[in-house]
Amino acid sequence: MMGTRTHGRFGGPFWRRVRLVLIALGAALALTACADEHPLDTLAEAGPDAQEINDLFFPVLGVAIVVFFLVQGAIVYLAMRYRVRRKAEAARARSDDPDGDDLYGDDEYPEQVHGNLRLELAWTIIPTILLAVISVFTLISLVELNEVTAAEDDLRVTVVGQQWWWEFQYHLDGDTSTPPDIVTANELVMPARQQVPLEITSRDVIHSFWIPRLNGKRDAVPGRNHPWIIEADEAGRYMGQCTEFCGLSHAYMRMYAVVLEPAEWETWVQGQLVDAAPLEPGEPGYEGQEVFLANCANCHVVNGVTDVNLDGVVDRTADYADVMPRTNDPLTSALVAGAAPNLTHLASRTTFAGSIFDLYDGRAERIPYLEVADRGDLNRGDLEAWIRNAPERKANDADGARGMTAFPGLTEGEIDALVEYLMTLR
Ligand code: CUA
Repeated sequence: MMGTRTHGRFGGPFWRRVRLVLIALGAALALTACADEHPLDTLAEAGPDAQEINDLFFPVLGVAIVVFFLVQGAIVYLAMRYRVRRKAEAARARSDDPDGDDLYGDDEYPEQVHGNLRLELAWTIIPTILLAVISVFTLISLVELNEVTAAEDDLRVTVVGQQWWWEFQYHLDGDTSTPPDIVTANELVMPARQQVPLEITSRDVIHSFWIPRLNGKRDAVPGRNHPWIIEADEAGRYMGQCTEFCGLSHAYMRMYAVVLEPAEWETWVQGQLVDAAPLEPGEPGYEGQEVFLANCANCHVVNGVTDVNLDGVVDRTADYADVMPRTNDPLTSALVAGAAPNLTHLASRTTFAGSIFDLYDGRAERIPYLEVADRGDLNRGDLEAWIRNAPERKANDADGARGMTAFPGLTEGEIDALVEYLMTLR
């Protein structure tokens, strides 16, 4: 028993090994942060709003690091300086106290201290001043992050979160009270160097909109429109992710901000404003259009072909129970959004299913965004598997009432025809 004491409680060879493993693990974790640039890297700011946040973050981090080392340093120093080990060893060496419990003789008991006004004032006032200064800069940043500099009639986008994808409704004249001009999903296509004010909401549960390289997070809450702003300095693809747990496929609720040069963005807008033309018998894709109308049009809109309210948006919360009889329970149907992505220009996008799957093969990222429908190689495997049995690729909720349904009744021929039709939607 006595022998083990010389090592202290965590000093044995076993604990030394544990300590080594922990240090190695910590170093490995820290080093992974230096790996390839991560698409969700908050520190790789790519727009003025993200810049604003990091301009606040880094100075605060600097102050925090100084405070950390001062406090931890003081703790370590005091622990070393006033440890009782030597006293304990001396006591143990005394034959009358083999356990070393009786550290101090009556006459050498340390002076007992209670309270120190100067110290207590110092450690109250210094943090108060620090936090007050930080809060002033934080408030300034918050005000600047909410400052809309876009003109009244500039582009505004309503962002609608839904289990488990994002819808973007474009109001080209800035008036969000009228039906949107363009409705698209998963990819927020926007012009570079232009502030785009957003209104963020949800059709079902609470989500959170986050494109970390462009700005911070903002919650998407049903029944509320949360203002937010997004702006990018350069053209590019910026990944986003839902950051509020919203059900089984929360992790698979991604999106992209696709930033184009302003002239290219104008071209994109002109393309998106064109409705799809209903195909006539004999035209390529006609059979697929029939399959689409019979199976998909309950939830998916193709402008010019299946418009329900002529606003490009299916929103059947009220009558969803009629569309999908299994959600007759009023509580469930109130939670179910009943809408699905507008597919009018599906082939012009590069991802589907909440940006989980690439619509084209990997090479597509190197093709200019506007040319991807012409030059991309279709990722037929994932698209057909998705149509056949979506819940197998991306979990729906337990009762299967949210997310895309499976279509076990479709033949392979019908799925081929459907894919042919979908790829006409450019
Ligand atoms: Cu939507 Cu998490």
